[in-house]
Amino acid sequence: MAKSSPAFTCTACGAAHKKWAGQCEACKAWNSVIEEAPLSAGPKSLGGKGRKIALTDLATQSAPPPRATSGMDEFDRVLGGGLVEASAILVGGDPGIGKSTLLLQATAAFARRGVKSMYISGEEATAQVQMRAQRLGLADAPVILGAETNLRDILTTLDTERPGLCVIDSIQTMWLDTVDSAPGSVSQVRSAAHELVTFAKKRGVAIILVGHVTKDGQIAGPRVVEHMVDTVLYFEGERGHHFRILRAVKNRFGPAAEIGVFEMTGDGLAQVTNPSALFLSDRDKPAPGSAVFAGIEGTRPVLTEIQALVSPSPLGTPRRTVVGLDSGRLSTILAVLEARCGIPFAGLDVYLNVAGGMRVSEPAADLAVAAALLSAREDVAIPPDMVLFGEISLSGALRPVSQTENRLKEAMKLGFTQAIAPSRSKMAGVDGMTVRQMPDLTAFVGEIFGAG
Ligand code: TYD
Ligand code: MG
Repeated sequence: MAKSSPAFTCTACGAAHKKWAGQCEACKAWNSVIEEAPLSAGPKSLGGKGRKIALTDLATQSAPPPRATSGMDEFDRVLGGGLVEASAILVGGDPGIGKSTLLLQATAAFARRGVKSMYISGEEATAQVQMRAQRLGLADAPVILGAETNLRDILTTLDTERPGLCVIDSIQTMWLDTVDSAPGSVSQVRSAAHELVTFAKKRGVAIILVGHVTKDGQIAGPRVVEHMVDTVLYFEGERGHHFRILRAVKNRFGPAAEIGVFEMTGDGLAQVTNPSALFLSDRDKPAPGSAVFAGIEGTRPVLTEIQALVSPSPLGTPRRTVVGLDSGRLSTILAVLEARCGIPFAGLDVYLNVAGGMRVSEPAADLAVAAALLSAREDVAIPPDMVLFGEISLSGALRPVSQTENRLKEAMKLGFTQAIAPSRSKMAGVDGMTVRQMPDLTAFVGEIFGAG
């Protein structure tokens, strides 16, 4: 009856294999393929008697989970409105981006608000953390501090202390004496995360795990850590810039894609409550190649400046350099401009950039990208008081996007007076904004850049 199901599975990526291998073919991880019990054909073949589980309907709801707030609004919002009891959170980011700084500040903020808070550093000695706290003006916060990497000792300590919040910095330094491999290895990270998450659920402690991210943007160690926790946050930013963005990529207790914006200063991370003003602050005069995109990040509208530079290419294959946007998206938009509007970029180098180190992933940015590209190519500045948004389809049509009104209101708040939006956008007019609705890219090119 039971058909032959693949009996070997990679513990790092979950790929199924027909036979054992030292290296997983799918994700290239070493020593991660293990044998799994074959799937059974049903309850009968399992032999033993099961118990029927209690079932219910959707209407029987308990109260929403109680949340503790830190008072750092940018942090609380990304968590979905505060820290949920007994939840497990993973904060990932490149080394040196400011994870330890952020979490020390957050731990201190929770501690000051009466949450019993613990900070365990596996990377720095207590004296180092204390010195940093001193510099950040947090030395007086009632944080319980420890420096340890042995998970058995940490769990024992947690069980005695029973804090409301415990930060583990970082999960890659933790090791379990029952697992026979080096700290930071796939199996150590996996087991350590599993122990901590299970402990969090059983004992009602909220746990924040810090994780390093590899070059290609994955949390070093197994991806399964991301599946184990309730919330995954990424702390990101460009090295040369002082802006840092905390982004929720998964949240069982709140909206995903929510962002919190911080600025790295001499005394730690400062909250940025009006990111639009910050990302646009470098704009002075209207310049060709610049377009302002009215975007939505999570639940909040954020304006960003898209910059393009187009120059004749000395190379056979012209350069396409993108910072802060998806490079595949740039290729698509260039192809649509060429095929639908007859504006070629062949033989031209294209550089595209989101100002301020911000990263934009919304398809609604397409129109602003196209506008910046055209503006750079034609050397015609876009009116400085204009925002744009709209998704470009392969046919060249402009597709309406969500939350038109929120985008327009944010733009108006920052002194913009005109907007280009797709036709059929759902909106009531916003006073003080002139909104021109365009059906497709060709109409847009004709309107802004003359005949095209
Ligand atoms: P850190 O929090 O140690 O990064 P991570 O834990 O992600 O590896 O932050 C490291 C960087 O932050 C370091 O290069 C210096 C900078 N920094 C400041 O600019 N101001 C500060 O107040 C602090 C504490 C750090
Ligand atoms: Mg650190």
